[in-house]
Amino acid sequence: MVRNFRFLLFLLVAVLLAACTPERLQRDEMLDGTYEGLGEGRGGIIKLSVDVIEHRIAAVRVLAQSESVFAQPYIDDMISRVIEAQSAEVDAISGATQTSNGVKSAMKMAIDKAYGRSIANELFAETQTDVVVIGAGGAGLSAAIEAATQGAGVIVLEKRDFIGGNTNSSTGGINGAETSFQKALGIEDSKALFFDDIMKGGHYLNDSSLVQTLVDNAPSTLDWIARMGADLSDVGLMGGSSVKRTHRPKGGLAIGPHLVKVLCGEAVGKGVEIRTGNAVLDVLMSADGKACGVRVGQSGGPDYTSWAKAVIIATGGFGANLSMVSSYCPQLSGFSTVNHKGATGDAFPWVEKFGAELYQMDKIQTHPTVDVRNSLMITEAVRGNGAILLNREGNRFVNEMDTRDVVSEAILGQTKGTAFLFFDQAVRESLSAIDNYDKLGLLVQSPDLASIALKTGMDEAALSRSIQRYNGFQSCGEDADFHRSSVQMPVPLAKAPYYAVEVKPAIHHTMGGIHIDSRARVLDKQGRPVEGLYACGEVTGGVHGGNRLGGNGVADIVVFGRIAGREASVCAKRE
Ligand code: FUM
Repeated sequence: MVRNFRFLLFLLVAVLLAACTPERLQRDEMLDGTYEGLGEGRGGIIKLSVDVIEHRIAAVRVLAQSESVFAQPYIDDMISRVIEAQSAEVDAISGATQTSNGVKSAMKMAIDKAYGRSIANELFAETQTDVVVIGAGGAGLSAAIEAATQGAGVIVLEKRDFIGGNTNSSTGGINGAETSFQKALGIEDSKALFFDDIMKGGHYLNDSSLVQTLVDNAPSTLDWIARMGADLSDVGLMGGSSVKRTHRPKGGLAIGPHLVKVLCGEAVGKGVEIRTGNAVLDVLMSADGKACGVRVGQSGGPDYTSWAKAVIIATGGFGANLSMVSSYCPQLSGFSTVNHKGATGDAFPWVEKFGAELYQMDKIQTHPTVDVRNSLMITEAVRGNGAILLNREGNRFVNEMDTRDVVSEAILGQTKGTAFLFFDQAVRESLSAIDNYDKLGLLVQSPDLASIALKTGMDEAALSRSIQRYNGFQSCGEDADFHRSSVQMPVPLAKAPYYAVEVKPAIHHTMGGIHIDSRARVLDKQGRPVEGLYACGEVTGGVHGGNRLGGNGVADIVVFGRIAGREASVCAKRE
């Protein structure tokens, strides 16, 4: 709180100073000197100083940062990237997106000063447009692209200084059945099986019409993002899915940062205006009960109104609002979260006046494999590609590919409520996302089982027995202990070096939210659509029921984002 306040105060001063800088001081090249910049990382403020010599960035020093020790290599890496590019417009590092964005923001501020540019965001006054989208994560960007494609004028309002939201950290992939990518790899799947898996995984609490919409639209949606340049060529397995249907970039790279980059490029190319640092304060209702715009607070300027013919809420979930989480789900009090700071559930009070129904708010998912020291999610794809879970005693205790609720519960039941995710070099080589965990220093690595037992404190004899037994199950395709299926045991764990990371469950996805219909229209408590108001992505409730399957979060945001964008543009044309 105090840190945030200090950060805001500093920004305010910086903005005021910048506002006093005459336009004519802007330069075509950087002026030699030393410039400081601030950004917001995962742990708080990142403060950098940049030396410009002969109009080039020559050196960068970190003056202050509150990131974890594991993030230091990423800060260094980002600084090297910026120096090499001589620009802050470089890719974030997947797996460390918040830290990367903090470094980028700080570098941008310093570089802007060196050019004599105003560092203030552009300030906005009263605006009128066709469609306002609230939130620049995967759902909001998808909605914006689709609405713009249909000819609507679109403004996206993002409260944070950077775009992407929770999509920045999504790793495992995006689900779809009967996709062109599965076909290319000879994977047999069907929409009916996908539907059944989702309903079963969600304990049949899902809104089945939303599930059907997700399933039916997933293949064309995957083609849609592929046409924009997304690489979905690696198709893997996630917990609770009968077959491989989780699509991600080649080599098993994280999907999130890749997707955000692709969607952002497309949105900007279609003329969508994205305003970061613009926080919606309320959704406005006309005298006849329709959504007609939003009230916006902007950093460094007065609040303003953006009038719109249709409003799309794509603000994400509330997994970073720990008091809201525990009010709906007291059993999760004290859990850590893997959510980005902006996932605070701001939208729910805005929709009260429309009588909107909040649906299944107590359905909150934990992710089973979150690094105990750093609260970083280790993607389920690691288990999908062959990793197992062992307790401190060195024994397996669950089908690692069961659904997240089952696996989370099983881990919490072990000694100290944690477990070790264990895998070998073959698993590591199958999934590039693991490289980031290594860079972050999350992995215990050893050339043999004896030393990994020593480093983790697992019982050596039990560990060896467990691995031998698992490899036996793997070779005959039958897990006599926990019934992991043969497709879920793709490789023996036999190739040194070996890796382990201690994990425990943390808050991951808030599955409840604003109730929508299959046209992404916000429904009131009587089940009637609210005119002009749409919602998509994690802010909505009902698609995932009691438990979401891995890979369906990203499918949800893009499928329903597109639908919301299309419907909102139709609504705007009617007005
Ligand atoms: O484990 C993961 O990569 C998470 C994916 C998801 O929640 O969809």
